[in-house]
Amino acid sequence: MAILRSIFVVVLASLSAAAAAAAGRDSRSVCLLSDGERVKGACAVLRRGFPGQVLLPGEAEYGGEATALWDQAAWLQPGCIFTPFTAKSLARGVAILVERNVTFTARSGGHMPVAGHASLDDGVMVATTHLTEKTLVRKPNPYGTDYLRAGPAFRWLEVYSFLEQHGLTTAGGRVSSVGSSLLLGGGLSYFSSAHGWAANNVVNFELALANGSLVDVNARTAPDLFWALKGGSSNYGIVTRYDLRVVPLGRVFGGTVTWAGEHTQRYLDAQTAFILPGGGAEDDRAAIMPNFGYNPSTGQNSSGTVFVFNGTDANPAALRNLTSIPTTSGSVAVQRFSEVVASTAGYAARDRRWSFYATAVKSAPATMDLLYRHMRTQADALLPGVNATVGAAVQPITVSHLTAARQRGGDALDLDPARGPFVIALFYGNWFDPALDARIRAWTLATIAAVEKDAKRRGLDYPWVFLNDAGQAQDPIGTYGYGASVRRMRAVARRYDPQGVFQRNVPGFKLGSELHSGC
Ligand SMILES: Cc1cc2nc3c(=O)[nH]c(=O)nc-3n(C[C@H](O)[C@H](O)[C@H](O)COP(=O)(O)OP(=O)(O)OC[C@H]3O[C@@H](n4cnc5c(N)ncnc54)[C@H](O)[C@@H]3O)c2cc1C
Ligand SMILES: *[C@@H]1O[C@H](CO)[C@@H](O)[C@H](O)[C@H]1NC(C)=O
Ligand SMILES: *[C@@H]1O[C@H](CO)[C@@H](O)[C@H](O)[C@H]1NC(C)=O
Ligand SMILES: *[C@@H]1O[C@H](CO)[C@@H](O)[C@H](O)[C@H]1NC(C)=O
Ligand SMILES: *[C@@H]1O[C@H](CO)[C@@H](O)[C@H](O)[C@H]1NC(C)=O
Ligand SMILES: *[C@@H]1O[C@H](CO)[C@@H](O)[C@H](O)[C@H]1NC(C)=O
Ligand SMILES: *[C@@H]1O[C@H](CO)[C@@H](O)[C@H](O)[C@H]1NC(C)=O
Repeated sequence: MAILRSIFVVVLASLSAAAAAAAGRDSRSVCLLSDGERVKGACAVLRRGFPGQVLLPGEAEYGGEATALWDQAAWLQPGCIFTPFTAKSLARGVAILVERNVTFTARSGGHMPVAGHASLDDGVMVATTHLTEKTLVRKPNPYGTDYLRAGPAFRWLEVYSFLEQHGLTTAGGRVSSVGSSLLLGGGLSYFSSAHGWAANNVVNFELALANGSLVDVNARTAPDLFWALKGGSSNYGIVTRYDLRVVPLGRVFGGTVTWAGEHTQRYLDAQTAFILPGGGAEDDRAAIMPNFGYNPSTGQNSSGTVFVFNGTDANPAALRNLTSIPTTSGSVAVQRFSEVVASTAGYAARDRRWSFYATAVKSAPATMDLLYRHMRTQADALLPGVNATVGAAVQPITVSHLTAARQRGGDALDLDPARGPFVIALFYGNWFDPALDARIRAWTLATIAAVEKDAKRRGLDYPWVFLNDAGQAQDPIGTYGYGASVRRMRAVARRYDPQGVFQRNVPGFKLGSELHSGC
C-alpha cells in the first residue's frame, strides 16, 4: 500500500497541476513530497530529545499508531511517529520539525477519511495519544462559564461519559469514536440547533505554533486567530488542549435504528417533512443523523438514523414521522446521552476503506429525492455489480443553529442564517478492495457534479463545503463565508506562521496557493 501510494505521488508530481487536479487529487498535495533523509535526521533528533516518545517502523507500538485511522485507505507509513507526553514537548518537537524543514501531520482521533491528511508516507506523524487531560473547571474563571479542559486525544464518548457524572455535556461529535479535530472543522453536534457548531462552544484553544511556542488562543488573547481556528483545521498549529463550554443535560430520548430497504421511500418522505418549514427540525431539542445507502452488487437499499431529543418525552412530535417507520434493528428509548452515543459504536470499526465528499443543498420539497436519485443513477451507471455501499448522510442545518453560531461569536465558516435552512449531503462510499478506489472516486465526483448542477437549475444550490465531511479534491476553506473568509484567514496565517510552515510542510485542507508559491 505504502509503495503503491509513493508511486502514485511520484507519477503525479510529473503531471502539471491542472492535470493532477483533473486526476482527482488536490494539486496542492504535490507540494508535499517526501523529504527522505531530512525525515530520518529529524526522527533521530526527536528520539534523543524525547525518550520513549518516538516510534520507528517495525517497533511494537508503531503499527498501532499508524493504523489508528478509521479509513484503511488512510493507513500510510510515516518515517516516524512522535507521541509527546506533554504539550510542551509537542511544541518543542514542532520547532525541531520546522527547523529541519520536514513534512509532518497531526493525528488525534484519526477519523478524517482523507488519505494523506492525518497520516502520511515518509514524513513525521505527530500523534496526540498521550495528551489525555480531562478536568472540569467551575466558575468563577476568566471565561465566565463552567468548562472542560480536554487534551486532544479524546473520543467523544469519553467526554460525554466524564461530563455526565456531573449532569453536564458539551456540544460535540455524534459518533462515539470520533476525535477532537471535529472542533477544527466547525463540528456538527446533536445540540447544534441550540448551541451552534461545536466550535462555537470552545472558550480557549492551547496551540503549538510553528515557532515552537505554546499559546492560549481565546477571544481576549488573540481574537483573529480564535475566529480562524473555528474552521481552520491544521492551518495554524497543533492544538494541545481544548477548553469546552459545558451545559446541563439530563436523560434524553434517543437511539440508533436501521430500516429495511422497502421503507426507503417512506424515510425520504419523512425527512423531507422534517426539514421543511413547520417540520421537526424546527424544534431545537430534536436532532437526527440519518443516512441512506445502496449496494450495487445486491441492488439493496438500506437506511437508518440516530435520534436525539433533549427531554424525557418518550414519543416526541418532532421525530414521530421518522420514529413511526418500522425498524429492522436498534431501539429508541429515554436513556442517558452516553448510552445513545454508545449505540453508534457500529461506525467505529476500522475494517474497510471509506471516502467522504460533501456538498450542500437548500431544504426544499425536492431535496431528498434529488440526492437519492443522483446517487442511484450514477451508481447504476458507474458501479454496476460492484461490491460496495454508496449513499449519503443528509444532515439538516437549521436557521437557529446558524443564529446560535453568530450569537456565540461566530467562526470562519461564517454562514448567514438568512440563507438557511439547508442540508449537508455527505456522499460516502465504503468498500474492501483497494482496486475499487478509483471507481468509487469517479462515482463520488460524478454524483456531486450531477447534484450541484441539478440543484443550481432549481435554485437550490448552497455554495459551501463542510470541511469535516470533505474529500481529497475539495477546497472547503475556499467556500467559507461563501468565499469571503479565506482572505482574512490567510492574513491570520501570515501573522502567526510567517514562514507558511502549516501551508507548505503540513498536508490537509489548506488556505490556497497564495502562501506557498515556492511549490
Ligand atoms: C464515523 C464518523 C462520524 C462523524 N461524525 C461527525 C459529526 O457528527 N460531526 C462532525 O462535525 N463531523 C463528523 N465526522 C467528521 C469528523 O469530525 C472529522 O473527520 C474530524 O476531522 C475528525 O477528527 P479526528 O480528531 O478524529 O481526526 P484526525 O483524522 O485525527 O484529524 C483530522 C484533521 O485534523 C488534523 N489534526 C489532528 N489533530 C490535530 C491537532 N491536535 N491540531 C491541529 N490539527 C489536527 C489532521 O492532520 C487532519 O487534517 C465524522 C467522521 C466519521 C468517520
Ligand atoms: C524546505 O524544503 C523544500 C523542498 O522540500 C524547499 O523547496 C524549501 O526551500 C525548503 N525551505 C527551507 C526554509 O529550507
Ligand atoms: C437540555 O434541555 C434543558 C432544559 O430545557 C436545558 O437546560 C439544557 O441546557 C439542554 N441541554 C443541551 C445540551 O442543550
Ligand atoms: C430503493 O429505494 C428507491 C427510492 O425509494 C426505490 O425507488 C427503489 O425501488 C428501492 N429499491 C429496492 C430494491 O427496494
Ligand atoms: C410529518 O409529516 C407530515 C406529512 O408529510 C407533515 O405535514 C408534518 O409536518 C410532519 N411533521 C413533522 C414534525 O415533521
Ligand atoms: C462483499 O465483500 C465482503 C468483504 O470482502 C464480503 O464479505 C461479501 O460477501 C461481499 N459481498 C458480495 C455480494 O460479494
Ligand atoms: C512565536 O510567535 C508568537 C506569535 O506570533 C509570538 O507571540 C512569540 O513571541 C513567538 N515566540 C518565539 C520564541 O519567537
